[in-house]
Parts: sequence; structure tokens; C-alpha cells
Amino acid sequence: MSLKAFRGALLDFVDDPFYASEADSVRYLPDGLLVLEDGKVKALGTYESLQASYANVPVTVYPDRLIMPGFIDTHVHFPQTEMIAAYGEQLLEWLSKYTFPTEGKFKDKAYAQEIASFFLDELLKHGTTTALVFTTVYPQSVDAFFEEANRRHLRMIAGKVLMDRRAPDFLTDTPETAYAESKQLIEKWHGHDRLLYAITPRFAVTSSDEQLRLAGKLLAEFPDVYMHTHLSENVNEVRLVAELFPDSDGYLDVYDRAGLVGSKSVFAHGVQLTDAEFQRLSIARSAIAFCPTSNLFLGSGLFNLKRAKSVDAPVKVGLGTDVGGGTSLSMLKTTSEAYKVTQLRGETLSPFQALFLATLGGARALSLEDRLGNFEPEKEADFIVLNPRATPLMARRNPTAIATSLPELADQAFATMILGDDRAIHATYVMGELAYEQG
Ligand code: GUN
Ligand code: ZN
Repeated sequence: MSLKAFRGALLDFVDDPFYASEADSVRYLPDGLLVLEDGKVKALGTYESLQASYANVPVTVYPDRLIMPGFIDTHVHFPQTEMIAAYGEQLLEWLSKYTFPTEGKFKDKAYAQEIASFFLDELLKHGTTTALVFTTVYPQSVDAFFEEANRRHLRMIAGKVLMDRRAPDFLTDTPETAYAESKQLIEKWHGHDRLLYAITPRFAVTSSDEQLRLAGKLLAEFPDVYMHTHLSENVNEVRLVAELFPDSDGYLDVYDRAGLVGSKSVFAHGVQLTDAEFQRLSIARSAIAFCPTSNLFLGSGLFNLKRAKSVDAPVKVGLGTDVGGGTSLSMLKTTSEAYKVTQLRGETLSPFQALFLATLGGARALSLEDRLGNFEPEKEADFIVLNPRATPLMARRNPTAIATSLPELADQAFATMILGDDRAIHATYVMGELAYEQG
């Protein structure tokens, strides 16, 4: 039994601020104590209330910092790390011109390992401790990613990309090899330490009916693995899917007919969804990864967050960076762009709603809320130490280091998400162990 504790301002969420009041959903302790046992949360409370019970436990103190659960990125492509910021195209052309040639390099396991290692270190530097990750069509790129994630004891979800058409020959599999290789990878990695598997058809454009059908069969055989794909991102893409699947009743229906729409299904983007499709996602308890920096960068459009978070047909939503379509691995920057997207729609996104999406909301979207997302006892102690005064400008905007009321905290949190990036991440802990500290 190994006990340790962290003292500082603690912020997490106990409910969804899109539906519950801030008083009922935000938990803020300006002088809190987070007690851990063997990498999990043992107790959380004010320093004053817990101090006597844990008097002999070693305490790390973070004055003038804000301790929060680690960020959860619900959609990102590790092989696209090096092709971030590729100029001038929208989705389909961007894929052919930049993405596919880059992903071809991941046939080389050593290269995949080098990029996976760099990518995971960057995630930790940006305060992200869990992600749902696209690899490439090559099984060795999945092995490389999981090996590097496991080396860092991270809770990560990933899977081999399935593509059997409309991509270069060097990047395509077949329905049968996709099924067999995915099955082998599930058996090897799903539930291994903290790692989880996602069956990952790239999108309806690059998978035949038969490949999607076999992916659905595999999901039925392993119902606790995830399904991760792209959905209704770009207008031309939606038109092409309608041409490729003339018998389907819309884009989501292509996946639905293959048995791919369920409670462990995560769909990236959903910018062009119809009302009926939102309804279907709600009933199926599927999740959407809202990827604002990517949707803006690739000119895809403005996601209807208000519709997804409606009261009558709620859909689970997490935030995704979608690098390399997205322009930053920072979940702070992602919340900032999400806010701007809602502004362009004439709506808004409160700082607590945004930070909920980046933590407990992401955990719920990934069905991991029993393990991650806030500081409830027994949860895995992945957390970050934020510095709201990380730059001279942030220090001027946030003159008080520790907020003493919810309105003051809301203002500080908002300025931090609008101005912050990796410079605001002072430290990142994984299962209670220091995994990154700003030099
Ligand atoms: N749709 C299919 N593949 C991709 C991808 O790699 N990135 C994005 N943003 N959308 C996709
Ligand atoms: Zn993507």
C-alpha cells in the first residue's frame, strides 16, 4: 500500500454542466487535498478536513496552480503528427495529396515507433493523458503505438485502420485481411494493462460494403471493444457516400446497416448530420468527437453542439484535436476554438462546459467514466497541474492565482482556455506518477 497526496486548488466535474447547474456540476476546492493509493484516488476534500486523517502521508504542494483531471482527446491520428498544417485543401483532396503518402511511411515499424514515441510525449506535454487514436492500415503501426503507450502506462484506445478501396494500393487491405488482422490485434492488446482496442474503418468512402459488414461481425464477436470512424464531416464527402451507397438512407445508415452503430461507437466530426441522424445517435448511445480546429482548418463547417447536447435527444460529445486535420494537440486550444465555433453559430459555450467536454465529458463519450474523468475515489489518478499565469500576458489577465469563488474561477478558467496551450501545463501525472514536468 503506497499513499501519497497533492495539495492545491482542485477542479473537476461531478455532473454535466450542459444539463445541471454550475453549483451542482463543478467541484472546486481552493485549498484541496487529493490523496492517492497505488495510483488511484483514495480521497478528495479540503486540506483542512483531510489533513488529520492523512498526517503521515507525503504531500506534494502546488501553490498558485490548478489541479485538474488529465485531458481526454476523443479523436486524433498519431501518424499525421508530421503532416500537421498541410496547406490549401479540403478533406478529400487533402487526404490524397498529403495524408495517404504520409501514412505509407508507417509500413516501417521503426519509423512508426519513433513517431508514436514523439506523439505520446507531446500529448503528455499538452496535458492529455487518454486518447482515442487512429493508426494506419499496417498492423505493425498498431503494435508500435501500443508498445509506446504501454511503456508510459497510459490508458489509450487505438486500432488498425480498415481501407479496401479508393486509396493507394500500398495502403489498402481486403475485407478478409482487415477482419483477421483486427481480430489478432484485439486478442493481443484489448485489456492488456491499460490499453483498449477500437475497430477502425477509416470512413465509408474507403471501405466496401463487405469490409463494413465484416467489421460489424467482428464488433458483434467482441462487444466490449470500440468502433471508431469518421462521419459526415464535409459536404463533398457526404455526396460521395450517397453515390457509393445508393441503397442507404444517408451516411449514418451505411454504418448502421453494418451493425457499427452502438454504445461503444465514436464518430468523428458529424458536422453535416441531419436531425434524424442526431436522433439515431442518441438512441444508440453513440458518441461524437467534436473537432473544432480541424473543422475550421479543412473548411468542413460549424458543428451543431447545441443540437448534440439537447435535452430531448442528447448525444454524448467529447472533444477531438484530429491532428493532422486539426492544428494543435492542445485541448486548451481545442476548447478555445470550440468556443469560437459556438459564437459563429450565435450560441455560446461556458468555460465549465468546455472543460467538462475535455475531461468527464470525454470519459463519458469513451464509456470510461467509471475509471477516468474526475477525482471520485477509485478512479485512476491521471491529472494535470495547470498554471493560469503561465505567460506574461496570462499573468496580467489572471492577476489572482487562486480563485476564491465560482464566478472568479469561471473568469480565470475562460482566460486560461482562450490564451493557454502547452505553456500552461506545468506537470502531468499518470497513475499518480510524474510523467511530464515543464523544464
Ligand atoms: N476522413 C477520412 N480520413 C480522415 C482523416 O484522416 N482526417 C479527417 N479529418 N477526416 C478523415
Ligand atoms: Zn480524423
